Amino acid sequence: MTVHLVGAGPGDPELLTRKAARLLRSADVVVHDRLVGDEILAMAPPWAELIDVGKNPNGHRTTQTEINRILIDRGRRFEHVVRLKGGDPFIFGRGGEEAIDLRAAGIDVTVVPGISSSIAGPAAAGIPVTHRGVASGFTVVTAHEDPANDNGVNWDALATLNTTIVVLMGARRAGDVRDRLVAGGMREDTPVATVVKATTPDQQTNLMTLADLGRRPVPNPAILVIGDVAAHPVIPEQLTNALEPISLTPHSPNQTSQTQTSQTQTSQTQTSPTPETSQWP
Ligand SMILES: C[S@@+](CC[C@H](N)C(=O)[O-])C[C@H]1O[C@@H](n2cnc3c(N)ncnc32)[C@H](O)[C@@H]1O
Repeated sequence: MTVHLVGAGPGDPELLTRKAARLLRSADVVVHDRLVGDEILAMAPPWAELIDVGKNPNGHRTTQTEINRILIDRGRRFEHVVRLKGGDPFIFGRGGEEAIDLRAAGIDVTVVPGISSSIAGPAAAGIPVTHRGVASGFTVVTAHEDPANDNGVNWDALATLNTTIVVLMGARRAGDVRDRLVAGGMREDTPVATVVKATTPDQQTNLMTLADLGRRPVPNPAILVIGDVAAHPVIPEQLTNALEPISLTPHSPNQTSQTQTSQTQTSQTQTSPTPETSQWP
């Protein structure tokens, strides 16, 4: 009679927490999202019921109402239900809503934090989201809501914060993100990294300036890292497809970074974008 809201991490099965692995091994039911890989799902016992709520049999997304209904139903009938979500369950994962509905239905809930793609994505590309003398903070936002409509995220404020901005669900709206930040006063030569399929064998990193963000399709799923740290991958070996050498010398946040930003044009940038599918909102 417990539903565990479990973070599956960003993709690499080795980035799953030990607690998540333990709960998966004893699960009666696993209700999982699209971004959770097969290697992680294979940890569940062979008799466990696996329910993919990323897509229903018609190829459509399962609604949040239907997901909550499934969780409450299984939560009432089974001892250990694992609700497995990519990254961390409480970061753009709607875990909070699920917890509220389950508790209202009298079902016990626990949450197991996961490594969020918002920090794993930049790190996997060798980019520290904070770096002494370069960025003293970072903000994680979603571009799922249309940046052209000012609901939710204050892009004008973000543009002037002078800290790193990490954008989730921003692949399809990369051009809108660029326009909103530039309109808010952010330098067009601000370095940007896009990290696609982070921590998986198919990880792709592209470095560019804000002016070029969204000029080419960004495949899904992707993290956009916007800020001077993107010009300073401290472990350049972890970059993929970086065709030009990267400067490793930190510089003042206000200094223009045109010469320190590598522009890459890779095969992945020609890929058609896949539809942004997510559980949010
Ligand atoms: C619905 S949000 C869920 C975020 C998740 N709860 C987390 O903490 O990472 C889905 C978005 O996360 C990002 N994402 C998740 N996994 C990713 C990965 N391996 N590589 C790049 N981006 C990823 C993408 O921006 C994607 O559109």
